[in-house]
Parts: sequence; structure tokens; C-alpha cells
Amino acid sequence: MTAKIATATGAQHAALLGLGSYRPSRVVTNAEICEHIDSTDEWIRTRSGIIERRFSEPHETVQMMSVAASRTALERADIHPAQIDCVLVATVSHLWQTPAIAPLISAELGSTPAAAFDISAACAGFCYGVTMGADMVRSGTAKYVLVIGVERLSDITDPTDRGTAFIFADGAGAAVIGPSDVEGIGPVVWGADGEKFDFIRQKQSWIDVLALERAVMPHLQMEGNPVFRWASFEMAKVAQEALDRAGLTVDDLDVFVPHQANMRITDAMARALKLPERVVIARDIAYQGNTSAASVPLAATALLESGEAKSGQTALFIAFGAGLAYAAQVVTLP
Ligand code: COA
Repeated sequence: MTAKIATATGAQHAALLGLGSYRPSRVVTNAEICEHIDSTDEWIRTRSGIIERRFSEPHETVQMMSVAASRTALERADIHPAQIDCVLVATVSHLWQTPAIAPLISAELGSTPAAAFDISAACAGFCYGVTMGADMVRSGTAKYVLVIGVERLSDITDPTDRGTAFIFADGAGAAVIGPSDVEGIGPVVWGADGEKFDFIRQKQSWIDVLALERAVMPHLQMEGNPVFRWASFEMAKVAQEALDRAGLTVDDLDVFVPHQANMRITDAMARALKLPERVVIARDIAYQGNTSAASVPLAATALLESGEAKSGQTALFIAFGAGLAYAAQVVTLP
């Protein structure tokens, strides 16, 4: 007779319990970017909405920024690092093929032996992690999950590439997810379109780099315009579906936190969703640039810290990027 295996059971509901972020110290102006590319401050501001961005100093490593953001999130959640059962790190700029950075971050925080692994879903990675974390809490796989989005894109961006040099930047954001009396993380709408794999990608594989006469860093490259059109048209539909799946409409929303890819994409989505005037829209890209997996938690934390958004409010998260991978969910802000 086949042995009867017990089924894991968890909390009925999951929620974000705390958010934190870390912004690197070095401010990089458009003028500095234009020292390496044929562009202007005005072009960058009008085409992307970026006024300045942050690049990490050498000591502001992926690990260091993640630990700083996580400590703030843990403190705000009132959760001790030892209570964390799983650490998920969304990043594309931890430049070791193995091991993942998550176990190192977990050890520095004092969360060992929590399960720990990285998520490679580029800009969508944090929203992928929020869903995975919530599912773990509800299934009983973990009681508390730490989700981190972190990037040092300045390491893998070619400062002479006109199509990407002004966009990408560095930073970290973190969220603690745990059990809740009421639902705080709505059903996800997520997916990926591998047919558009080439739209945003590393220029060469590590194998290709070895075959070169002189090794180079395989920088990011992007088909800006097709990405722009895909994001502006397709992502509003995904955002609307996330609202529908949560059983809500735009009238229930207080805050909209889209991936900080380009201010014009944010505006196009807000128009397509017909967001009421009173909905607060995250516009962190102006002073932070596009930080890929870190952008949603950085932007959400900034709104809470400035008082523009408040604990208990309903927010729509959506993130999208290389893959092309995307994910959206409605959350209650912690
Ligand atoms: N500075 C000045 N001019 C530039 C430039 C730069 N850095 N880059 C391109 N241009 C010029 C082009 O040469 C072109 O000139 P032309 O009309 O004389 O031929 C013109 O600007 C328009 O180029 P295009 O590539 O169509 O620009 P765009 O309006 O699509 O804007 C991006 C470029 C990168 C800002 C935009 O495509 C974008 O934001 N894409 C999505 C980015 C994104 O979200 N990426 C991450 C997803 S996670």
C-alpha cells in the first residue's frame, strides 16, 4: 500500500509586513552620462523622464545593498532575521554563475538555515518573488519570506551605448511577507514571451566572451523602441487583469507602482487604465533611473517614506522586462 504523505498547510492569507530600500550614494547626472554618448540632458529628460540616477560605489555591493534594505524591511515588519524561512533574491547583476547571492545575504542577516535562492526574471523578478513568497506562506512552505530586488546595473551597462547608458542604475528594495488575517497580496497575472528573448539581453554568453580575442564584459543591450511599444500597449492589459482577478476596479486603488522603466510608459499605462486623478503614481525613475528588479520596492518604499502613500492603502504593482517576463498583483501596503 502506498504510504499516505501529509499535506503542508499554511496561513489562509498572506501580506506584505514591511518594506525597505537602499539607494547608493553617488548621484549621476545626465550631463555626466552625456560625457560618453551623443545625447543631451533635454533629450534624456523628455524621452525617459530621468533627471538623475544613482550608481554604486565599490563598497555598495549587491550583498551590502540587499542587507541594508532587508534590515529596514525586517525592522518595520517587527520580524527577527531568525524567523525568516526563505530568502528570495531577484537580480541579474550578481556576477557569479554560482552560488546564488541569496544564501550569503541570508547568512549575513542571521537567517541561516532559511532556504535561499535567486530568481532570474530581470525587471519582473521582485513581483515574481512577491507571488512566490505569498504562495509559500499560504501553502505552509514558509511562515516568513524575505523578498529582495537588487541591481548594480552600472557594472553591466556600456557607458558608450546610446540606447541604454542613460537608463540603467543601481539600488535595492526588500519586503517581508508573512501570514495575515485578511488577504494582502492578490492573485498574480504573470507570464513570459520567449519569442522576444532578443529585445533585452546580455550581448554575449560567457562562452562567447571566452572565444573573443580580448575578453569584454557582456553588457546589456536593448531594442528600445519595440520594448517601449510592447510595454506601453501590452502591460496595461496585464495590470487591468490583475485588478480584475483581485475583484477590484481602479476606483478601489490608492496607489499605482509600475516598474520604473520610462516615465512615458508609466503615463501610457495610467491613461490606458483610466486611473482616477487621486491615485498616487510612483515616479521614482526621475531621480533613481531604471533599477530593474529593485525598482518596484524602491518606488513603493519611497512613497511610504514621503507620506504620499499610507500603510493599509491598496496598490497595484506591475513589473516587466527581459525575457520578456512580466508580473502584476494588487497588494495592501504595509
Ligand atoms: N540621445 C539622443 N538621441 C537618441 C538617443 C540618445 N541617447 N538614443 C536614440 N536617439 C535618437 C535616435 O537616433 C532617433 O533619431 P532619428 O529620429 O533622427 O532617427 C530618435 O532618437 C528616436 O530613437 P528611438 O530609439 O525610436 O527612441 P525612443 O523614442 O524609442 O526612445 C528609449 C528610446 C530607449 C528611451 C525608449 O525606447 C524606451 O524607453 N524603451 C523602453 C526602455 C525600457 O523600458 N527598458 C527596460 C525595460 S525593463
